[in-house]
Amino acid sequence: MNIILMGPPGAGKGTQAEFIKKTYPIPHISTGDMFRAAVKQQTPMGLEAKKYMDSGKLVPDEVTIGVVKERLAEPDCANGFLLDGFPRTVQQAVALDEILSGMNGKIDLVLNIDVPDDILFDRMAGRVSCEQCKAVYNTKFKAPKTEGICDQCGGSLIQRADDQPETVKSRLEVYHAQTAPLLDYYSHKGNLQNVDGNRDVNVVFADVQKLMEAL
Ligand code: AP5
Ligand code: MG
Repeated sequence: MNIILMGPPGAGKGTQAEFIKKTYPIPHISTGDMFRAAVKQQTPMGLEAKKYMDSGKLVPDEVTIGVVKERLAEPDCANGFLLDGFPRTVQQAVALDEILSGMNGKIDLVLNIDVPDDILFDRMAGRVSCEQCKAVYNTKFKAPKTEGICDQCGGSLIQRADDQPETVKSRLEVYHAQTAPLLDYYSHKGNLQNVDGNRDVNVVFADVQKLMEAL
């Protein structure tokens, strides 16, 4: 199954992806994680992406589409994938359709995790994530057993550079201007499902699972 996880910054895309991965053996493709890895390795693409990420703007479409096209061509995507944070513009969605039609594939389900903006600020202020396995925690809502240490792999927990309040504000503006219009795009295609993300993570996942089981 080919799934897209949509939703504003901090909606819980990464958190739900962790649940999904444990239940369904499909690769989790997060463009944000891929860009952060490239920034850390200081590759030319990472250095280019960092300029946009630090100010809460989107990395240019041609860069992002190229990265996803390459990743979807890898053998582990042959039996399905979970896209997190892509597509984020109509141009990216159109490019994804083209890539998939070249692979005889299509998107089966677009899960839109819906959370009001004021809640999102609070979530991102408390977010820490594992440098190694990318597991996501929250000092307020989902604290690790030992401060600063990942429960799952023992890796160090770090704050994201783009979780400063000013950058979060800009990311939300960008989401409403450039990404929210995609909801119409997928609604017209008939594969959009909205999930109320402003509930306990397990309750949110129960809804996600129901929608996936219905495929
Ligand atoms: P990206 O990494 O994709 O960030 P984002 O979309 O802004 O989303 P986040 O990762 O911040 O939030 P999330 O929805 O995954 O929430 P999480 O589960 O962590 O993108 C970063 C940047 O990369 C972009 O700004 C852009 O520059 C660039 N980029 C990436 N993709 C791109 C693209 N396609 N095109 C161009 N540029 C791109 O949860 C957040 C917090 O809330 C955590 O602490 C978690 O524990 C907590 N939480 C989660 N669910 C709940 C719940 N139900 N109740 C209480 N707390 C919860
Ligand atoms: Mg994420």
